[in-house]
Amino acid sequence: MILLGIETSCDETAAAFVDDTRRILAERVLPQAKVHQPFGGVVPEIAARAHLQHIDRLVNAAMRRAGLSLADIDGVAATGGPGLIGGLIVGVMTAKAIAAVHNVPFLAINHLEGHALTARLTHDLPFPYLLLLVSGGHCQLLVTEGVGRYYRLGTTLDDSAGEAFDKVAKMLGLGYPGGPVIEKCALNGDPRRFTLPRPMKGRAGCDFSFSGLKTAVRLTLQRLESRTPQTIADLAAAFQAAVTDVLIDRTREAVKIFRTGWPEGSALVVSGGVAANQFLRKKLTVLTRAENLLFIAPPLRLCTDNAVMIAWAGVERFRLGRYDRLDFKPRPRWPLDPLASQRENISLL
Ligand code: KG4
Ligand code: ZN
Repeated sequence: MILLGIETSCDETAAAFVDDTRRILAERVLPQAKVHQPFGGVVPEIAARAHLQHIDRLVNAAMRRAGLSLADIDGVAATGGPGLIGGLIVGVMTAKAIAAVHNVPFLAINHLEGHALTARLTHDLPFPYLLLLVSGGHCQLLVTEGVGRYYRLGTTLDDSAGEAFDKVAKMLGLGYPGGPVIEKCALNGDPRRFTLPRPMKGRAGCDFSFSGLKTAVRLTLQRLESRTPQTIADLAAAFQAAVTDVLIDRTREAVKIFRTGWPEGSALVVSGGVAANQFLRKKLTVLTRAENLLFIAPPLRLCTDNAVMIAWAGVERFRLGRYDRLDFKPRPRWPLDPLASQRENISLL
């Protein structure tokens, strides 16, 4: 079974072909970072236009690379949400058109499910596993129980970790996207020169918060007498250390909860764009060793947004016969565990 996957939910236009033996037949990603760079963040209208301009070409390029024609595919999967509506419409309409013309099923994929299931493509991982999903739009700890079955242990109360990286990079004058530039700059910095807060660290539960940390960086910057490259590097290093410290503390709490219900030797999977961060990966390696958990981090190109994960989530859903109708409407908001906020409201009563 061969599926075409299409990803257009944020600022990467991507197409890929994947089969049900876990083979990636072709993958193409066109990052839009350059067009958004002057604005210091993703501009939704520009993103949608760029997706529209490039998606057909990318699908064709991936198809040529795989040596396939559209007549060879068994289904088309596209990110149906969550994400920026203009981009979602471009990907979903393209996928529906191909599915209709070639008379194959269309599958609308939750972008977060794409990140969540990647480890099953790369490592053939059985359910259940614990997932730390850290991207530009999300920061969550989830138990992945099965396809379409997720239990959210914690989420961010304000910004995602990726957003914090992006906003702090903008403040430090390092450019966009923030994660990679902060990571690079932090290599030359001393994380101990500035003391930054660790929001939520030590609290019960697994929720995150990054807005206070962001404000602390801004205030530290305002108090500086001069902004030398060394000072910026030190602040970048202090910020990266603080974010990582919070992520590790919250993940440790999640491991405790996960442990009570699941078998020995289960895995912690990290996914999403921030999972590309080597400093975070090192700390997660240490944590999982201490907790006797398997640690799985997909290759970097499959951690950031891509269409391979969408095609693969399509394969997983296709096997279960979970197709979508052609009247599916893209969903800017689409929680993986829709009951999570209800549970949290009840526990607050
Ligand atoms: O998963 P992703 O590609 O897109 C979303 O679904 O949001 O994640 C993008 C985010 C951006 O905020 C970017 O700054 C962050 O991932 N990121 C990183 C690194 N590479 C990308 N954050 C920290 N360190 C990195 N090396
Ligand atoms: Zn993503």
